[in-house]
Amino acid sequence: MKVDEVRALYLNYFKAPPRNHKEISAFPLVIENDPTTLFTSSGMQPLVPYLMGEAHPLGRRLVNSQPSLRTQDIEEVGDNRHTTFFEMLGNWSLGDYFKEEQLSWFWEFLTKKLNLPKEKLWVSVFEGDGKIPKDETSYFLWRKLGVPSRRIFYYKDNWWSRFGKPDDMPIGEMGGPDSEVFFEFDEVKHDLKYGKECHPACSCGRFLEIGNNVFMQYLKKDDGVFSELPQKNIDFGGGLERLTAAFNNNPDIFKIDVFEKIINAIEKYSGKSYGDNSREMRIMADHLRACVFLADSGITPSNKLQGYVMRRLLRRAALMGMNLNQDLFNTKLFSDIVLTVYQTYGGVFLDETKKENAVEIIYVEIEKFSKTLSRGLKIVEKLERVDAKTVFDLYQSFGFPFELIQEIFEKKGLNLERSAFDRMLAEHKEKSKTLSAGVFKGGLADSKVESLKLHTATHLLHESLRRVLGKEVVQKGSNINSSRLRFDFTYPTSLSREQIKKIEAMVNKQIDKNLVVTCKLMPIEKAQKQGALAFFKHKYGELVKVYFIEDEKSGEVFSKEVCGGPHVKRLSEIDGRVKIIKEKSVSHGVRRIYAIIE
Ligand code: SER
Repeated sequence: MKVDEVRALYLNYFKAPPRNHKEISAFPLVIENDPTTLFTSSGMQPLVPYLMGEAHPLGRRLVNSQPSLRTQDIEEVGDNRHTTFFEMLGNWSLGDYFKEEQLSWFWEFLTKKLNLPKEKLWVSVFEGDGKIPKDETSYFLWRKLGVPSRRIFYYKDNWWSRFGKPDDMPIGEMGGPDSEVFFEFDEVKHDLKYGKECHPACSCGRFLEIGNNVFMQYLKKDDGVFSELPQKNIDFGGGLERLTAAFNNNPDIFKIDVFEKIINAIEKYSGKSYGDNSREMRIMADHLRACVFLADSGITPSNKLQGYVMRRLLRRAALMGMNLNQDLFNTKLFSDIVLTVYQTYGGVFLDETKKENAVEIIYVEIEKFSKTLSRGLKIVEKLERVDAKTVFDLYQSFGFPFELIQEIFEKKGLNLERSAFDRMLAEHKEKSKTLSAGVFKGGLADSKVESLKLHTATHLLHESLRRVLGKEVVQKGSNINSSRLRFDFTYPTSLSREQIKKIEAMVNKQIDKNLVVTCKLMPIEKAQKQGALAFFKHKYGELVKVYFIEDEKSGEVFSKEVCGGPHVKRLSEIDGRVKIIKEKSVSHGVRRIYAIIE
């Protein structure tokens, strides 16, 4: 079966009665104007406010397929099952159905729609950790569905939150126990290097995780203290590519249709076979597919944020290409792959009108990098002696993997010690992990009260800017954490002291008036007709939430804006004065304001 067919089967299954889910459009892969998160990495990410209890315009049962990008596993890509980019099939119950319906529906989908043999399905449930009890309910539900006890495993790791295990979650973050489903490829034999016993969570490749049922029901209140969320939710996520591989009973997910043409092109241009060069070809196929999605989302390679990730992925793909055949850089391979990816996803997720642009972006970066590579190679060739630091610097500056440098030095009869390099790499990875966690944590997604206040203050600021400076002010970005707000908007010149004072005074006057914040659901067309500021792109016909900040007595509306929320209910909850602490230029014609609540 092809990826398109598995996707359609899943969406239709959850949309059909009695399940009656509503399909929501996929969120952009690159979260526009929200630098708190680099990429959408799971379907639940944009749904956090609704999992917390906000009403979703389309109801309590949602389903979609979400293009997602995760870079934590980048070093694993090259084996038969890891990718950075993937499509995540997701269904959600926002305080509606719970464990019993979810497990039996997913089981029915696997065994009756995909017709996977029951005896090849294994499951795991949460073992409990002292604070949160063992999930015996799920165990008994699986037993009722016919899974024998020998195929059900209790693990401590069966817990899901955006930050991992309970101890790693920041205060205010949601999480819950989960129940995972694994497909067994019985022709893969256990490799003892992964441990004596083989079991579903073993990394030997015999088992492939194909779905994760998260029972999203807890909120971290304090260190070691969890309370129940206002509602019990289901957050299911399943890797579309992996489900397709399971259906095809082939443990190599790069054998599914969406990778086939990419790999054929690599084979054709390099003159090498996939069988002998699978690692290189898998890395190229995965990274280049991811980069096409990034280019389509408007990202170009750079040294910052999403652009940096894109650069890294492209360079790694180029390096793999070089390992296969140095002449690849002079062929049309990279352009052909971009076109192939558009052929596969055009009209589903990719915008055909951006195809030429994506070809250009990727071509330019690969071309640039191939020159850097030849320069780097010349430096390496000239070195007589080499230490771990030099190897690490080469890795950092040119993206040379250890093996490549080792190969060159072996040719010179020199040996390289790997352990010091590995230590440096581990330190570097630890640092970058902290960095990206900081980016994620910084946003409204943390649902802290302070962030909520600053979010409402941002609406007040947006409207005040338009009233004081004029309607040419258009929001360009917003980033909120619990200590400050940041707001980007179009305006040709820097703001004067007087203008800043006037804007602050207008914002604070509304707080003094204790205006009320209300939310109404309406079709996007109606919201726009009413003059609501609509910053994110929405599909026509979709219901959206419009937040009104108004005087309940006079009915006078100060601000109306299309927004997912959440917000304070009354401006008195802001409980302070909004103060602009900095105003500066970010790019031509775009200004940035930082403000706090004092
Ligand atoms: N949020 C869970 C995951 O990303 C399930 O959707 O795996």
